[in-house]
Amino acid sequence: TTPVRALIAPDGGSLVDLVVPEKERPARLGEAASLPSVTLTPIDVEWVHVLSEGWASPLRGFMRQSEYLQSLHFNSLRMADGSLVNMSVPIVLAIDDTVKDSIATSSSITLRAPSGEAIAIMRSIEIYKHNKEERIARTWGTTAPGLPYVEETITNSGNWLVGGDLEVLQPIKYHDGLDQYRLSPAQLRKIFEEKQADAVFAFQLRNPVHNGHALLMTDTRRRLLEMGYKNPILLLHPLGGYTKADDVPLEWRMKQHEKVLEEGVLDPESTVVAIFPSPMHYAGPTEVQWHAKARINAGADFYIVGRDPAGMGHPTQKRDLYDPDHGKLVLSMAPGLERLNILPFRVAAYDKSQGRMAFFDPSRAEDFLFISGTKMRNFAKTGVNPPEGFMCPGGWQVLVDYYQSLSSN
Ligand code: ADX
Repeated sequence: TTPVRALIAPDGGSLVDLVVPEKERPARLGEAASLPSVTLTPIDVEWVHVLSEGWASPLRGFMRQSEYLQSLHFNSLRMADGSLVNMSVPIVLAIDDTVKDSIATSSSITLRAPSGEAIAIMRSIEIYKHNKEERIARTWGTTAPGLPYVEETITNSGNWLVGGDLEVLQPIKYHDGLDQYRLSPAQLRKIFEEKQADAVFAFQLRNPVHNGHALLMTDTRRRLLEMGYKNPILLLHPLGGYTKADDVPLEWRMKQHEKVLEEGVLDPESTVVAIFPSPMHYAGPTEVQWHAKARINAGADFYIVGRDPAGMGHPTQKRDLYDPDHGKLVLSMAPGLERLNILPFRVAAYDKSQGRMAFFDPSRAEDFLFISGTKMRNFAKTGVNPPEGFMCPGGWQVLVDYYQSLSSN
């Protein structure tokens, strides 16, 4: 038999793993107890998780100023050998004046979960100014009020950032019944190798899977087989960190995705379902680069992108915040993503003439029905079925159950 192709190498060459080996943990825990500490928010802990497993490889901790500025201004980091890796969103830890004063004389600090538990040590720390307006404007391209991640994590955060190298005291777990889906990049690579994948194509999502999404994935598989790959594996990779209040919560999305596989919309044999632990920025073309970059580290060499990735409605105006085509255009040109094969897709919508989801054909626009998230929510809330062929029945039932659980509370 011919040898299987090696998986794409992680950014920076080798995968970062910041979790302290088990036998060293007691000593580190002892040290952690003696250091000045910073108490994290739940979203900060999600970033510790992301960093600990190497999703942001080669980054080894919360950004120091030079990394922060490169990320903010260049969407990428320059390596010692001159090469570039993509890094489009700043991964930073904000602290206020009081915390700054309490840690300023120490080169190592302890990071604590909201419960008070020590979860990491950060070494050779650097404290620098957090110009929130500049960070928000450069990351989102707007400072309009109502950006979910901004309001949740930045508006009330401190005026300083602290960066350094992380040593994470044990793997981050959530104990919510979903930890078995939180596979690290190293675990995913092992699975792809065991399955003898010769291509891995990733699908990032934060919404339930409708048949339009499925069309992107099945069409990709078809194209990869046509290109000569024998065993392309799909990474169905729902985002599991912070999402805005009106998105469907992770546990319901996981139930929905399970139905999509059970009912054969996607092929369970050639699909791996796992949770991507990052929080969601809703920063459109800037953020989609992060979404793609992180999947290289997990072994994906193909990345699907469709309409308005990581986008949302403008918080104060009646329009999309970003041009829905810019995500895929930017991704195809992004610095540091040259090794990743981008698979751009046109918008899919419900084709009334065929009774199924299909790629939008502008020459017969009147045949197409766009079913937005809002429309879907209203269907589910009011017990109206969407047109047949929009979503598999079991998957739809999960959404009905979710929205009805909301209105009965
Ligand atoms: S995202 O924030 O994770 O990008 P979402 O879960 O809605 O949001 O989308 C997942 C992926 O599917 C993205 O690549 C997005 O561009 C694509 N997508 C979503 N809806 C459509 C659609 N109707 N047609 C084409 N692509 C779509």
